Amino acid sequence: MNPADAVKTLARERGAVILAHNYQRPEVQDVADFIGDSLELSRKAAAVEGRTIVFCGVLFMAETAAVLAPDKTVLLPDEGAGCPMSDMLPAEDLVEWKKQYPGRPVVLYVNTSAAAKAECDICCTSANADRVINSLPDPEVLFGPDKNLAAWTQRHSAKKIIPWDGYCHVHQGIRAKDIRASRDRHPGAVVWAHPECRPEVLDLADRVLSTGGMVREAVGNTAADVIIATECGMIHRLAKDHPSTSFHPVKDMAVCPNMKKITLPKIVAALEAMAPKVTVPEGIAARARRAIERMIRL
Ligand code: 13P
Ligand code: SF4
Repeated sequence: MNPADAVKTLARERGAVILAHNYQRPEVQDVADFIGDSLELSRKAAAVEGRTIVFCGVLFMAETAAVLAPDKTVLLPDEGAGCPMSDMLPAEDLVEWKKQYPGRPVVLYVNTSAAAKAECDICCTSANADRVINSLPDPEVLFGPDKNLAAWTQRHSAKKIIPWDGYCHVHQGIRAKDIRASRDRHPGAVVWAHPECRPEVLDLADRVLSTGGMVREAVGNTAADVIIATECGMIHRLAKDHPSTSFHPVKDMAVCPNMKKITLPKIVAALEAMAPKVTVPEGIAARARRAIERMIRL
């Protein structure tokens, strides 16, 4: 049996639902029951009916699923699939940071560990950071770990956003000169960029969108060529859904090696062994859940 059929057969036997982030390998996206951005996957994890969730993404996403669905088994097919940006703001550092700014609420990007989320007031994703921050009554907020998302959100908020100095190495690696070179290669193309990109990159974009925002934008898009300034996995879904549009990665090197750690043979192995499981101690989960659910309620 080929690995894709093996995944589907095993998933059926185990009552497992396969969730995949938009940056996953094409063949992984193709076996998924649901593909989405961080916010959509959080919502889905809370609502799925299966007993088991196979999370094709990185650790913070699988932890979010475990926090929101404590009665389900959450499998992460490669336990080494982490997120370097999330590692830039450990819970202990957040506790110290809060002491420097007493009374300020903390907004944390979902790209953080469950332990860090347990220390924050409310979570956000790239799709709703401005809405979350503007919903707070306070004039100043701490925001981490992504300084680029903080700077982008600052453009849409009258509040003072105090950023942590973190970033995503994949998006940080996209430069303004890459956008210019890509526009030269594809005259007339529009540029869609993820808000984790540098401010000078976002200045050159036609639209600034989360990965889920790009999926929705593509539905009404009329441009023949679209340059995508985010992780290259995004192209697969866009091209599959809209074959008459040409989607171009801004650079071939925009690849998240952690997202690519999930493969079909590892999903098969995870379903066979029902491991590696991702669990979050209930003391941490309860506090992290409060912050995530506060965001979802918005
Ligand atoms: P979104 O899918 O929420 O836009 O997040 C992008 C990302 O970097 C996830 O790791
Ligand atoms: Fe983390 Fe960036 Fe990879 Fe997303 S793309 S998992 S933010 S390193």
